[in-house]
Amino acid sequence: TGEIPVITIDGPTASGKGTLAAQVAARLGWHQLDSGLLYRATALAALRQGVAADDEAALARVAAGLKLRFDGERVLLAGADGQADDVAAELRQEHVGSMASRIAAFGAVRAALEALQLGFRALPGLVADGRDMGTVIFPQAPLKLFLTASAAMRAERRHKQLISKGISANLADLRADLEARDERDRNRAVAPLKPAQDALLLDNSGLSIEDSVQQVLAWWAERTQKGGPFGQA
Ligand code: CDP
Ligand code: CDP
Repeated sequence: TGEIPVITIDGPTASGKGTLAAQVAARLGWHQLDSGLLYRATALAALRQGVAADDEAALARVAAGLKLRFDGERVLLAGADGQADDVAAELRQEHVGSMASRIAAFGAVRAALEALQLGFRALPGLVADGRDMGTVIFPQAPLKLFLTASAAMRAERRHKQLISKGISANLADLRADLEARDERDRNRAVAPLKPAQDALLLDNSGLSIEDSVQQVLAWWAERTQKGGPFGQA
């Protein structure tokens, strides 16, 4: 029918969205969109260009002019001179995440990144994770998830993840930063973090990654078996 299925995964910081999205996309053989990475890359480009965190018009221009390329694990970001360097590790740092959540509150920045995000939708399907995938970017998605876990657990997970990548971090500071970021994301006027009305909630506090993957695959199988545009009938 030309319909391209999308599974959206939204939720707070370090709830496991990216890990789950990557696994589900791999099992289904689908494409993946890490939308947070686009906000982080815009934030990093703005920091490098010395654009102020409150200059909405200039930030939107940075977002619209973003020159990003993905090459396996590498994320290549080109500067004004066209020279690109691998920023994958830098993008993961919490100061970049904090700047991302500041600039993500601006409607003009979000609008500038919308077309780029929609472009990831391709056959045979897309798994997209972020904050507004189910509510704003892919509101017609046939399966929407909202992932949660306790703040303590999320801070611990992110801490472990950063340390394992050789990025130093202090657990208490990290937790405070994550909570401030979530608070900002939940309370902004444009595209706030919240479950879509038809989203399924998944609290993975006590679940292994594989358990979560199996749950999502089971929900997707249910969707396709019920018939409709994504059914096999
Ligand atoms: O994308 P998001 O910020 O929501 O989270 P993530 O980067 O996918 O996950 C944060 C960390 O939590 C990763 O190191 C995951 O391996 C870990 N995680 C976990 O330990 N148990 C889960 N059930 C889910 C994720
Ligand atoms: O991985 P983590 O959950 O720490 O963050 P992320 O998904 O990389 O997103 C970084 C920041 O970008 C978030 O705190 C949000 O403010 C913003 N973001 C957004 O506003 N909308 C999205 N769809 C994705 C991220």
